[in-house]
Amino acid sequence: MKKVAVLTSGGDAPGMNAAVRAVVRTALHYGFKAYGVYNGYKGLVENNIVELGRNDVGQILNRGGTILGSSRLPSFKQVEVRGIAVENLKQLGINALIVIGGDGTYRGGMELKDMGINVIAIPGTIDNDIASTEYSIGFFTALDTAIDAIDKLRDTSFSHRRCTVVEVMGRDCGDLSIYSGIACGAEIVITKETGFIKEQVLKQVQLAQKSGKRHLIVVVAENITDVFELAKSIEAVSDYNSRASVLGYIQRGGTPSAFDRILASKMGVHAVELLRDNQSGLAIFTNSLEIGHCPIEEALDARDETTDLYNYLSKLN
Ligand code: F6P
Repeated sequence: MKKVAVLTSGGDAPGMNAAVRAVVRTALHYGFKAYGVYNGYKGLVENNIVELGRNDVGQILNRGGTILGSSRLPSFKQVEVRGIAVENLKQLGINALIVIGGDGTYRGGMELKDMGINVIAIPGTIDNDIASTEYSIGFFTALDTAIDAIDKLRDTSFSHRRCTVVEVMGRDCGDLSIYSGIACGAEIVITKETGFIKEQVLKQVQLAQKSGKRHLIVVVAENITDVFELAKSIEAVSDYNSRASVLGYIQRGGTPSAFDRILASKMGVHAVELLRDNQSGLAIFTNSLEIGHCPIEEALDARDETTDLYNYLSKLN
């Protein structure tokens, strides 16, 4: 009998609950026992591990955050601390673990795999900074939140002929910024990837003013520069009176979008099926939103993605 545990770790992300539900339901579908680890790796160390039934993960598909709780546990880098976690899992006879989170979570999972636990990692982070996957669970919901906020800022920015500087989350990754910048029609997007030279940005603002722009939106990824200072500098070199807003933690919350629910459900099923097949040390990814092209005559014969979804549905109830 396989025993599969699941945990969520690092910054929470909308859709994590949908992934937990999929993991638990799929494990039960295959006749395994399912366990939830509370509060991320901390719960592994503190033996906060509880068997879960199908109803324990009912009514959570549409909920933001994570019912399992999450934490950051820097001491998990220490082998003795991880040793306690491994021992706790072994005491319960749990031989498989699914970790849902970002890069820190993945590193913890790799270490546990090296200590003999079968580990599968699912990308769950609003930052979208896991290199192997095009999209992580939570990214699109956070993006929708950022877009909603920037659209609202645009209204007042336009009315008052302002330059509105908006700080968006993402840790060291500019994805939330560049995606929201494109979706909101921002004039300037500043991320680690674009680099930041203040004088250049100020010049861009002046050029925009010359070209007759009534107002401007500047999206800045977090950890790049002080957006309030930047707004002041913009005001000093242009006719725009300028304001800054930091979107902050609202980007982490909220009901997961349709995309994140489906992505999380599919990834959860896939993760358990890998464990069923005695696989370990693997990270789930998606690259399904690629833009491509094919001859028109082949377009109508292309495989229908939805057929695939019926296979997932049977494991999720
Ligand atoms: O990783 C998600 C994230 O929200 C980042 O965008 C942000 O830099 C960080 O977490 C904030 O972390 P904390 O919740 O520890 O303040």
